[in-house]
Amino acid sequence: MSRLGVLVSGNGSNLQALIDACASGRIKGSVAVVISNRADAYALERASKAGIATQVLSHKAYPSREAFDAAIVEVLRRERVEWVLFAGFMRLVTPVLLDAFPDRVLNIHPSLLPAFPGVDAGRQAFEYGVKQTGCTVHLVTHEMDTGPIIAQTAVAVREDDSLDALMQRIHAAEHQTYVAVAAALCEGRIELDHSFTRARVRVRVRES
Ligand code: GRF
Repeated sequence: MSRLGVLVSGNGSNLQALIDACASGRIKGSVAVVISNRADAYALERASKAGIATQVLSHKAYPSREAFDAAIVEVLRRERVEWVLFAGFMRLVTPVLLDAFPDRVLNIHPSLLPAFPGVDAGRQAFEYGVKQTGCTVHLVTHEMDTGPIIAQTAVAVREDDSLDALMQRIHAAEHQTYVAVAAALCEGRIELDHSFTRARVRVRVRES
């Protein structure tokens, strides 16, 4: 059973999807710890309800990004975490975290990257007037929202869409996509091709 560490800053609906999928056996793993940089994140309540260890580490309590990341690594190691999943975690990370878990840190983003990186991606896409958007699960690198793509799910924008309605469908797609990727991780079905191009790793997810 793989041990997942989930990093959050807010609501935690993706965390909930992961918790539920571990409980149902869809993911052959467990959420070992939930780390939040905000004490008021609702995600912490979701974790506690599920009996999962939580840790609040405020980035404001550390003198540098590196020091903050070192504290995160300490907790992840203490909990014997194998895969680190960002789920609405709103901080940029440094090599201190990435080198401790090489190719083992993932993020979910609410757009079809490389379109609309950064904050408020759903709104950016909606206001741009795209006909298709969606979500992306990718490996985390030190630059924001640029790492190798693991999985994407497209969501069509409807003629009469509102931003709220679109975001609801994007979130639903996120939950399914993150669970599918986490299930694959825990079953060893994720393969990295480092010889794809000089600049980019290609990630393949094998069917179960
Ligand atoms: C999601 O849209 C995710 O893609 C983005 O932050 C949001 C987190 O939502 N990185 P939740 O906290 O999982 O509900």
